[in-house]
Amino acid sequence: MRYAPVTDRLAGLGGAKWEIHGRARALQAAGAEVIELTIGEPDAPCPPELLAEATRAMMAGRTAYSNGRGEDALLDALAARYTARRGRAFGPRNVMTLPGTQTVLYAVLHTLLAPGDEVLVGDPMYATYEGLIAATGARMVPVPLRPEQGFRMQAADIAARITPQSRVIFLNTPHNPTGAVLRRQDLEEIGRLALAHDLWIVSDEVYEELVFDGTRFVSPLDLPELAERVVACASISKSHAAPGFRSGWCIGPEDFCDHLLPLSETMLFGSQPFIADMTALAVSAPSPVAPGMAERFARRAALIAAELHGVAGLRVHKPEAGMFALVDVRATGLSGHDFAAGLLEAQSVAVMPGESFGQALRGWLRLSLTQPDEVVAEACRRIARHAAQAKGEAA
Ligand SMILES: Cc1ncc(COP(=O)(O)O)c(C=O)c1O
Repeated sequence: MRYAPVTDRLAGLGGAKWEIHGRARALQAAGAEVIELTIGEPDAPCPPELLAEATRAMMAGRTAYSNGRGEDALLDALAARYTARRGRAFGPRNVMTLPGTQTVLYAVLHTLLAPGDEVLVGDPMYATYEGLIAATGARMVPVPLRPEQGFRMQAADIAARITPQSRVIFLNTPHNPTGAVLRRQDLEEIGRLALAHDLWIVSDEVYEELVFDGTRFVSPLDLPELAERVVACASISKSHAAPGFRSGWCIGPEDFCDHLLPLSETMLFGSQPFIADMTALAVSAPSPVAPGMAERFARRAALIAAELHGVAGLRVHKPEAGMFALVDVRATGLSGHDFAAGLLEAQSVAVMPGESFGQALRGWLRLSLTQPDEVVAEACRRIARHAAQAKGEAA
């Protein structure tokens, strides 16, 4: 039978990246003990008051159809939150709610892109971005993120890749997998390019609340001169340890939201009112769980650096935010994939190969920071052992 070209464009983009994770899960299902440092699930439970609010709303009958933009109370709550944080006024017509950042990004990119357009996106990147862009028929143009620049996207690297087909600069700050947080100056320089070449800026800010001490989060929404061309996307998945609720939003120009609305209505026919009530409560006050997660993740990143940096030639890149740390294993002579596959087999530790996030991380590993400190420390000892062995064999 014949299928639509989009199925070909997406085929093979999903599964291969998660091969080691899948193998680890299969080993665990068969009874093996594996230290899993692959995916980034929050390490705190969803706050009980949010579960109570979702339950209360459901029991109160908040289970009817909603509308394509989202429930009024949630749109108001998000507009108030962004007005307070970003230093300029947002109203409910600047906001659209959709099920999680992933769906938001899918809808936002479909609102902005046509086949043949080009999207400038940092390499490495979050594992689903390639598929999100391919789904639209647009072309992904990787912009190298360099360790010596703290993996922060540089305007000069974008400028060198702009063509008449360029339409969107796709930012992710704080960044997965590198933990980089863009500075105001980075954004001002990137913003000048967007203005000069009439480009949109899409900013995935799902880790906004997991910024470590000493770093300040800045959004392109903070720059008033970009107000007509910035769309920021986020959710409560990380900030409130609630990924299963699938509750996200985007915020941007009113005209952009008006153009997104028919797509959202076509995809979803509205969202879930009881989840909207719970999310409105969540975003109206500081998160009770995000500061604790940020503190634990920063501590574990420091622990990994202390245990592994300089051991058997390994180098650890310390993140400024998020749920992950990167380890450069190139000194062992192995690719990230081969190191991770061998580590799982010999030491029962599962990590993500850097290659799953783009060519720029060939020879790197991504370690999730969501396991308890003593588990992370044990994983580091095993990684050090494996690196020393691999290096010895290569020598
Ligand atoms: C950078 C990035 N964007 C988006 C998502 C998906 O977030 P959500 O659960 O809100 O769909 C993730 C999840 O890990 C992520 O790391």
